[in-house]
Amino acid sequence: MHATRFLRSGYRTVVKPILFRHDPEEVHERMVRVGVFLGRHPTARALTSAMFAYRHPALEQEILGIRFRNPVGLAAGFDKNAQLVNILPSVGFGFEEIGSVTGEPCPGNPKPRVWRLPQSKALLVYYGLMNDGCIAAAKRLQGKKFIFPIGTSIAKTNSPHTLSLEAGIADYVKAARTLADIGDYLTVNISCPNAYGGEPFTDPMRFDALMAALDEVQTQKPVFIKLPAEITVEHMDALLDIAGRHRIHGWIPSNLVKDRNNPHLAPSEIQGKDHGGISGVPVREPSNEIISHIYRRAGKRYLIIGCGGIFSAEDAYEKIIRGASLVQLITGMIFEGPQLIGEINRGVTALLRRDGFSHISQAIGSKYANEPIDSPLP
Ligand SMILES: Cc1cc2nc3c(=O)[nH]c(=O)nc-3n(C[C@H](O)[C@H](O)[C@H](O)COP(=O)(O)O)c2cc1C
Repeated sequence: MHATRFLRSGYRTVVKPILFRHDPEEVHERMVRVGVFLGRHPTARALTSAMFAYRHPALEQEILGIRFRNPVGLAAGFDKNAQLVNILPSVGFGFEEIGSVTGEPCPGNPKPRVWRLPQSKALLVYYGLMNDGCIAAAKRLQGKKFIFPIGTSIAKTNSPHTLSLEAGIADYVKAARTLADIGDYLTVNISCPNAYGGEPFTDPMRFDALMAALDEVQTQKPVFIKLPAEITVEHMDALLDIAGRHRIHGWIPSNLVKDRNNPHLAPSEIQGKDHGGISGVPVREPSNEIISHIYRRAGKRYLIIGCGGIFSAEDAYEKIIRGASLVQLITGMIFEGPQLIGEINRGVTALLRRDGFSHISQAIGSKYANEPIDSPLP
């Protein structure tokens, strides 16, 4: 406990002010290099784990045949090229999602393409799905044994060549096939706000066509859909209705917000910045609303991985009681420090105890325990 407080105050007062003085993309790259280095050395991994990781049986779950040591994962977008699989368990994460990985390698949008919004506790992201492509990701991970579950997030290559419906679907299918036997679950990212042609596969008919093609890919892995943050109830219901016809096991609400009028955005920080999606605190409420809607409509039929604006154990717990079985984050770790993961796990354990739960599974969806499932899915 004291060690965590020490790490937190060290990050706040020393490390963060130094990191926040440098270009965010450069810092991101440097952090990945440090992570790769530490991940190579067993002693470094053991020391990192002793400093950061927190374990408790109340947090351990088996979901869709996958064992999760704790419910806190690294969201897609930080480890785009699957370089941190060795070190992240020692930092305390229960799982991670690599990518998003696309059919073809992609340099992303021109720089600068990521900005900090400190007042809003957010990042403005315009990377545009830069990654080495699915073949390089598969080569990096093939035959490796992982210490924790890995999700492979796939998206459509950011290029004019994937603009038609057929080419877009073919690109997703290539990535899904190439990564079919790698990792523990597959995420289909239909909600990147920064790629050529926008988010065509959030349209229900196109979503239906995409999922029909992905149904044909031979894989044992469960399939999750990464949702946009700004989605109406009617739109979500349309996707839920279509999902019943396909091999879909769960949802990840949500990706970056686009709305510059989001009440949690400081207008001065976003003025003149028309490109890009926003992470962090502005995503929290939209994500929570979608989690509640899916859970109230579908109950336990679908798994939910809650993502967006988690900066504390309370933020994570709110998503869990609304119906999320697992949670993911990026921005909270950047603003609060890597000790946040252990703090969340420790804090969620205390919140479970406070509410009389002996295991996390009892808390999932407990906010709606006395409500009937709203217009249940068939
Ligand atoms: C730098 C950065 C890059 C991201 N890239 C991706 C991506 O490639 N694929 C994806 O599905 N989400 C991506 N996201 C969105 C995150 O996975 C997450 O949905 C969003 O940031 C909200 O979580 P947070 O508030 O904890 O950051 C990215 C986010 C950030 C901050």
